[in-house]
Amino acid sequence: MKVSVIGRGYLGAVHAACMADLGHEVVGIDVDADKIAGLAAGEPPFHEPGFDDLLRRALSSGRLVFTTAMAEAARAQVHFICVGTPSRTATTPPICGTWTPPWTPCSPSWLGTTTARRSWSASRRSRWGPRNGLPPGWPTRRPTPVRCWSGTRSSSARASRSTTPSRPTGWCTGCPQALTFLREVEAINLRRREHVVDLAASACGGDLSGVRVAVLTAAFKPDSDDIRDSPALAVAAAVAGRGSHVVVTDPAALENVRRTHPDLTVEPDVLRAVDGADVVLLLTEWRQYIELDPAEVGRRVARRQIIDGRNALDPSRWRAAGWTYRGLGRP
Ligand SMILES: NC(=O)c1ccc[n+]([C@@H]2O[C@H](COP(=O)([O-])OP(=O)(O)OC[C@H]3O[C@@H](n4cnc5c(N)ncnc54)[C@H](O)[C@@H]3O)[C@@H](O)[C@H]2O)c1
Repeated sequence: MKVSVIGRGYLGAVHAACMADLGHEVVGIDVDADKIAGLAAGEPPFHEPGFDDLLRRALSSGRLVFTTAMAEAARAQVHFICVGTPSRTATTPPICGTWTPPWTPCSPSWLGTTTARRSWSASRRSRWGPRNGLPPGWPTRRPTPVRCWSGTRSSSARASRSTTPSRPTGWCTGCPQALTFLREVEAINLRRREHVVDLAASACGGDLSGVRVAVLTAAFKPDSDDIRDSPALAVAAAVAGRGSHVVVTDPAALENVRRTHPDLTVEPDVLRAVDGADVVLLLTEWRQYIELDPAEVGRRVARRQIIDGRNALDPSRWRAAGWTYRGLGRP
């Protein structure tokens, strides 16, 4: 099948390469000429494990081409529109992974919460929006139910346990212009971030000013350098805003952090990042941080206090090494 993928960002680039890898003829289109040139040369514009190999394979198959010429889409039978969602009000929201009109196929990668490539490979389906049945007066675009469901499900769980700390720190909803109940989902996510900041303050006697805080990590999900609307980075900025000295570490996203948050101190080496820390915040579940040795980390910090914003660590392991462990919604 001939397909076009319009928008070659985190989702579109991966989706196009996966479709070509499956045997489809794919034209990838973007307004960003530099991005198109880089992709055509086999250079991914972002970090995603395995994507460079996938991209090179798709390019060498001859089934994947890149262009800035929108007219090239005319030869395709199916169009995947992967441009960004405006994060605030807009008069003409674009069509994309989270906002699909009834006739638009929805990439498997949009239905998962892992990396785009992994979601794509693990999936056995592509989903199409409803063919008809939108009530009169509805906008012609509405959120894909699956994605809204997954966001709502996790946030409802958080809301139902709002009197106690709950999991996780929050996640990127990607569709802040959703229906009223989705605004509440967004609000719940934001409250989770504040809750982690409060936990950090309470670990430091109620006042964050002057304390050292190590933040593991910056990306909004593991195996990605995507920091857009990242709860981890929002928490890091909020903690810094309360007067503490924050050091952010991340396996892939620090270049992006330097660009967007020049005020934050970044340190690629996790053990150096925790040096002298009064409290450590684990905010995205990168495997290498989950597997850290609590005893080794304990020798570097000033105080053995860790807040596990993802409930990803084994509390007994950390407590056994003398740490005060706080997860969300768990003892
Ligand atoms: N990244 C995620 O994990 C994720 C998850 C679920 C849903 N989504 C949704 O999927 C969509 C794409 O996300 P992304 O992360 O790939 O965004 P992105 O910002 O990385 O990429 C968007 C791309 O669209 C291009 N573009 C913008 N306007 C264009 C136009 N008129 N014609 C052609 N190209 C154009 C931009 O240059 C950019 O390369 C977004 O709407 C997002 O909300 C993203």
